[in-house]
Amino acid sequence: MTTLFSPIRVSGHDFRNRIVMPPMATNRATPEGAVVEEMIQHYSKRARAEVGTIIVEHTYVARDGRINDRQLGAYSRSLLPGLGELARGITGGGARAVIQLTHAGVSGLGDEDGTVYGAGTLPRPGQEGVTPRPFAVSEMQVLAERFAEAAAGCIEAGFCGVQLHGAHGYLLNQFLSPLTNDRRDEYGGDLMGRARFPLEVVELVREAIGDDALLYYRLGADDFFDGGLTTDETGPFARWLVDKGVDVLDISGGLGGYRPDEAVEGHLLPLNQSIRSEVTDEVPLVLTGGIVNAESAEELAGEPAVDFVGVGRALLRDPCWAARARKQMAI
Ligand SMILES: Cc1cc2nc3c(=O)[nH]c(=O)nc-3n(C[C@H](O)[C@H](O)[C@H](O)COP(=O)(O)O)c2cc1C
Repeated sequence: MTTLFSPIRVSGHDFRNRIVMPPMATNRATPEGAVVEEMIQHYSKRARAEVGTIIVEHTYVARDGRINDRQLGAYSRSLLPGLGELARGITGGGARAVIQLTHAGVSGLGDEDGTVYGAGTLPRPGQEGVTPRPFAVSEMQVLAERFAEAAAGCIEAGFCGVQLHGAHGYLLNQFLSPLTNDRRDEYGGDLMGRARFPLEVVELVREAIGDDALLYYRLGADDFFDGGLTTDETGPFARWLVDKGVDVLDISGGLGGYRPDEAVEGHLLPLNQSIRSEVTDEVPLVLTGGIVNAESAEELAGEPAVDFVGVGRALLRDPCWAARARKQMAI
């Protein structure tokens, strides 16, 4: 049997193989953030074609944290029936259904009066000119509750896990990064201070979803900007995430985005290796980035720092990528 198609059990959940469809925004939801039929078809088609795990695109937990009017939402219980149909579409195809929850912070649309909120007062690199209003501590407590309520709702709707989006310059990444967090209170300053809010969110979400559901964290393990986060800090942070109950670490990077121009397959492997050295074998790690060939996916799946392989744009281009990979490997 190939490594790519070997099953794996994580915290009591069985996965039929190591192939993950990473979260990728389709921007097809209604203006209220509700699921539409086209999205169910988009995901269930790939589930039926042998993808092991589908992580549904970034889904906002509060209206001010959405990046556009077609983004998927989970901020209200009225959205749960649609999310349930989406989860059933994925699970019915034999894949595990996980959903990514997020708040965009300074990259969001903000309030109706145009105020955008962030970890601190600094713009996100690449988005200079947009100055956030830092969240007050009381507002952060409300937001952490929003994450927890949305997570519990998604599990109730039928997802087996939720993923917190802590990469690509969105709010949890903005809190952790010294380039975007200039707070002077207990939620800024040293690594422990900058990590405090993301860890509080993790803790509340874990409590809200219970021990049986899976908790993923998409970790921006390197900002790829001078003076930004590197694994010197994200390594210890990964350790704290695991201590707080995260089941799977999905490694990514880029405070300004996910580096789409990178051509090398598995180019983030050094980040997985650094994080693995901090968390040893306690939690599985996902490697994503540039993977297009089945042989490369197989080789990378055999790396000690890789338990799951994320295949993004190749799966957008070819919904049957996983089924074809299996045939190609003749198993
Ligand atoms: C159209 C598109 C939308 C994306 N949306 C998200 C998203 O919602 N959340 C996220 O964490 N990453 C998002 N990403 C990044 C992917 O999850 C993935 O990390 C990236 O595409 C690199 O993998 P690949 O080279 O296999 O495509 C998106 C990427 C693409 C191409």
